[in-house]
Amino acid sequence: MRPGLNRPRDLPGVTGQSRSGFEPFRILWQLIFVVSNLPENHCFRFEWPKQGNITELSLQNAQDKHWSKVELLHETVKNPNIHVRGNNSYYSNAWTGSFEDSVVRYLYGDEYSLDAWEPQWPIDQLYIGDYVCIGAEAVILMGGNHTHRTDWFSLYPFAEVILDAYLGKGDTIIGSGAWIGMRAMIMPGITIGEGAVVASGAIVTKDVAPYTIVAGNPAAPIRQRFPSATVDSLVALGIYEWEKAKFDALKPYLCSSDFDALVAASAKYDQSQGLLPR
Ligand SMILES: CC(C)(COP(=O)(O)OP(=O)(O)OC[C@H]1O[C@@H](n2cnc3c(N)ncnc32)[C@H](O)[C@@H]1OP(=O)(O)O)[C@@H](O)C(=O)NCCC(=O)NCCS
Repeated sequence: MRPGLNRPRDLPGVTGQSRSGFEPFRILWQLIFVVSNLPENHCFRFEWPKQGNITELSLQNAQDKHWSKVELLHETVKNPNIHVRGNNSYYSNAWTGSFEDSVVRYLYGDEYSLDAWEPQWPIDQLYIGDYVCIGAEAVILMGGNHTHRTDWFSLYPFAEVILDAYLGKGDTIIGSGAWIGMRAMIMPGITIGEGAVVASGAIVTKDVAPYTIVAGNPAAPIRQRFPSATVDSLVALGIYEWEKAKFDALKPYLCSSDFDALVAASAKYDQSQGLLPR
């Protein structure tokens, strides 16, 4: 293992004693710390203080792990069967091991399985889009252990029949911009659409449409985030396909609810770059 690969992103913190003994200042600095530890592109409007040096803010006792810190997946994922798009998707790993150690279950391609055996069947892949937020203790159940045939009298995975016993469930896809609530479980072979929300504790057994919120066990839609026509147009606009410069430039429109303004800003940006409108 390469050193440091499993560590959460190292960021300065003020979780130890504040230099200021004055309680309101301590709380203010802690708030700044939480916001500033989110990935660079997170939709928070935050201005860094003009004066003062954050590194002076009690770095000594900063904890390695905290709920205000996140693990950026593109920095830690090593399993060749996990495909992470972009640099912004994260796991909130404060109370567990890393994303690969705790969230992804039963997927061939971890260090041990790569060393121990050759895969006997095509491995279901895990695809994670960009700007995906994965809450603490979520589980993504993969198909590697699907050797229990419910249509056989014995469910037991006997070695001599293992090849016949295995039934793949297909790839799992988590679309860009999705938010997976804490302790949610995503069953094998599921597609979570772009911008969808999985409520905390939900068990997702069916595909989730883009920009839809699902909750419960089995997870069912509780509402769409936007009217259907807006969702269709939003998906067609392909915000997560945009080049980074455009995404960053239009962030104020992305972090708003005015779809017409977003479309107009997108067209204006394309025009200014001499691009054809989508
Ligand atoms: C899914 C979620 C975003 C919905 O938030 P919301 O839009 O404010 O929804 P509301 O609280 O108004 O609830 C809407 C309905 O969904 C239900 N609901 C909300 N969360 C639920 C959950 N986790 N499980 C089951 N039902 C849920 C509510 O009971 C309510 O039902 P009702 O309409 O019958 O009264 C939020 O509940 C959630 O789970 N967020 C994830 C939080 C989390 O995991 N944070 C840590 C990681 S960042």
